[in-house]
Amino acid sequence: MSRSATARPPAPLTLGARGRYSRAMAARRELSLDEIRAGLKRLKYFTTPRVETAIFLAVNLEKPLLAEGPAGAGKTEIAKVLAELLETELVRLQCYEGLDEARALYEWNYQKQLLRIQSDQAENRAWRDVEEHIFSREYLLERPLLRAIAARRRVVLLIDEVDKADEEFEAFLLEVLSDFQVSIPELGTVRAEHRPVVVLTSNRARELSEALRRRCLHVYVDFPGPAVEAEIVARKVEGLDAALAQHVARFVAGLRKLELRKAPSIAETLDFARALVAMGARELDPAVVRSMSGLLLKHEEDLRKAEGKVSALVSAARG
Ligand SMILES: Nc1ncnc2c1ncn2[C@@H]1O[C@H](COP(=O)(O)OP(=O)(O)OP(=O)(O)O)[C@@H](O)[C@H]1O
Ligand SMILES: [Mg+2]
Repeated sequence: MSRSATARPPAPLTLGARGRYSRAMAARRELSLDEIRAGLKRLKYFTTPRVETAIFLAVNLEKPLLAEGPAGAGKTEIAKVLAELLETELVRLQCYEGLDEARALYEWNYQKQLLRIQSDQAENRAWRDVEEHIFSREYLLERPLLRAIAARRRVVLLIDEVDKADEEFEAFLLEVLSDFQVSIPELGTVRAEHRPVVVLTSNRARELSEALRRRCLHVYVDFPGPAVEAEIVARKVEGLDAALAQHVARFVAGLRKLELRKAPSIAETLDFARALVAMGARELDPAVVRSMSGLLLKHEEDLRKAEGKVSALVSAARG
């Protein structure tokens, strides 16, 4: 769909209010490190001081946070808890191969435009009027990047698994992340009134460009260690004894050292612990563990690798 160069100057883009935005924490732009720490704990996100500091800096320096690390170590969760902590909306852009600007930024609602053209033609309206209608805000489909930029308050923008997107998309993303503004030829420029807090995650399926790394604050989110993981399990799994939570975390940490095809994630540790509660287990026992190992290990080769080591790992975990 083309439009003539004689179009009127772009009208200012006024965006409607979205969501309920009014709470105290979100209104404040700065939070102390202690507030961030306490907030993360309140929301049951337990991590290392390094990750806490990175989150604090991302919020206060308004710099995108690039979280890399193994699958299931809590990268995506950072954005989710941050949105809760700041009492704001989480806008998520899930990346995949072939993701393009139309899916990430905006596109015109062609179907709706065509219907409008037909009805305007039936009424013999001048093309200039038709154009004005069909290139107005009403016919724009906002995708996550535009939504985050145009939001009327600070939101959390999660750009998840950026390593799955193509390099060209990464270059485009760089532009957006440096200016926080989007130019829509038919409408004008939309500038972020409130820069979103941006969290990008990557599993390193491919190396990200140096330019993107430079633009971001980088944090490596690894499994937080058995002591912290025991805290996660104890706080998130109801009815689990604190000692058993520790044993579970140590057992899983032992499994992760076996160089498996897919190391168990924190979500899988939680599933395993919930299953123990459901089965009424009071302690880790090799037979029970073997019967439930499918909750932790999802590949036949990993199950075989761990099989002979379960007893030793269980007794080491029980210390
Ligand atoms: N530090 C943590 N504290 C509490 N819960 C956590 C923590 N890290 C992870 N979890 C739990 O583990 C689940 C998986 O975490 P998450 O989805 O963030 O992993 P990820 O690193 O994004 O994994 P992937 O690379 O597979 O996307 C979360 O839903 C959450 O319940
Ligand atoms: Mg994730």
